[in-house]
Amino acid sequence: MKKYYEAYEDRYKQVHSKTKKAWAGEKPSEIFKTLLEKYKISKKESILEVGCGEGQNAIFLSESGYKIDAFDVSEEAINWCKNKAKEKKVTGVNFFIMDALDNDYKKKYNFIYSVAVLHMLVEEEDRLRFLKFIKDHLNEDGKAVIMVMGDGKMEKKTDIKKAFDLSKRKFGEEIIEVAETSCRIVKWEKLLREIKESGLNERKHYIDESVSGFSKAMIVEVENKN
Ligand SMILES: C[S@@+](CC[C@H](N)C(=O)[O-])C[C@H]1O[C@@H](n2cnc3c(N)ncnc32)[C@H](O)[C@@H]1O
Repeated sequence: MKKYYEAYEDRYKQVHSKTKKAWAGEKPSEIFKTLLEKYKISKKESILEVGCGEGQNAIFLSESGYKIDAFDVSEEAINWCKNKAKEKKVTGVNFFIMDALDNDYKKKYNFIYSVAVLHMLVEEEDRLRFLKFIKDHLNEDGKAVIMVMGDGKMEKKTDIKKAFDLSKRKFGEEIIEVAETSCRIVKWEKLLREIKESGLNERKHYIDESVSGFSKAMIVEVENKN
């Protein structure tokens, strides 16, 4: 049986077949490049994007010279990414299908980032497993950046039984029917507690308003080592 967090597969299929456009648009968020520069991650170092969706950020970083491994649980998303990369003649991203919560992947990285994925995970055990995946795939000196939707004060939790239900959503000028998917927005206190529980060390947390598609994004910069 499909897990609730796989509902994005339906949403991507619905949007791609109806509009031929990307659900998240093509505009990357420059903040991840700024953070790679801040942490002095060289263009030769290993970088992983967890839950890359339609690939706009990985493709942008690759166009800037970085080599990225990027995966998503959605096959539709990864097919979209591969086609986009081909169209744009981008060769520096290795896109693949994988579930961050269920795999036996072993490779470790110097830098991991994830955009708008953790807030899709509603169940406590899934959220912790996601953070542990990041912890387990960082090199000893590795750093990661986790972005989720929220303002640090609000809380919200959807019913995971409704993740595959259709709902009307605005897409540009159109209204289209897409899978509801899932969402859990938490306060800073909870997010920072979860990060600590996973064994990751928080270095900095803040609200950013520059992430494409999100009016407010909570960003946490973490390290593997103490
Ligand atoms: C809100 S979208 C964000 C996609 C992309 N990061 C972006 O910024 O546009 C959430 C993504 O997380 C993916 N996802 C959810 N759970 C996942 C999991 N367990 N493993 C890998 N990807 C997952 C979904 O398929 C979806 O593409």
